[in-house]
Amino acid sequence: MAAVQVALKFLQPPETTSSGGIYVNSFSYFPRKRPMSASFAVSSLESTSTEAVEPEIELEFLGPNSRSDGPYTVERAKARSGEKLLRNIMLDNKIELYATYGKVMNCGGGGSCGTCIVEILDGKDLLNERTSTELRYLRKKPESWRLACQTIVGNKENSGKVVVQRLPQWKK
Ligand code: FES
Repeated sequence: MAAVQVALKFLQPPETTSSGGIYVNSFSYFPRKRPMSASFAVSSLESTSTEAVEPEIELEFLGPNSRSDGPYTVERAKARSGEKLLRNIMLDNKIELYATYGKVMNCGGGGSCGTCIVEILDGKDLLNERTSTELRYLRKKPESWRLACQTIVGNKENSGKVVVQRLPQWKK
């Protein structure tokens, strides 16, 4: 801006106003303290276009089905990779996690009730390994079963899709 004012000074001698601004000619007026909003707008556009996209995990939840021939209900959610436990994602998205007993007696995610069981049908590589709590509660259960309160969705760098069977107990 200062460079523009200096260049204009060479074109025509300035006339100073009572408020301190400079008249360059009869059509243009440049105040001494001109806001620089244009340059800020350009830099903010540049910063948004270069922002990195956060890795994200897509989740698909299949509802329980006591009859093998009927359709599953399917619910979907998304989460930033490595940011949340599966239990919290389900509760935040109002996706039912607990069976009747667990609804009343669950430990609130403390890893001490074993009622937040889900089955990972696809995408288990996008989750953390089974914790020692899970090894204790799920010792005699299929390897695909997890405790939702112990399961971290993503590792902050990966992305992809995880398919979860809710309340897999009805299958066994
Ligand atoms: S909520 Fe109790 S073990 Fe997961």
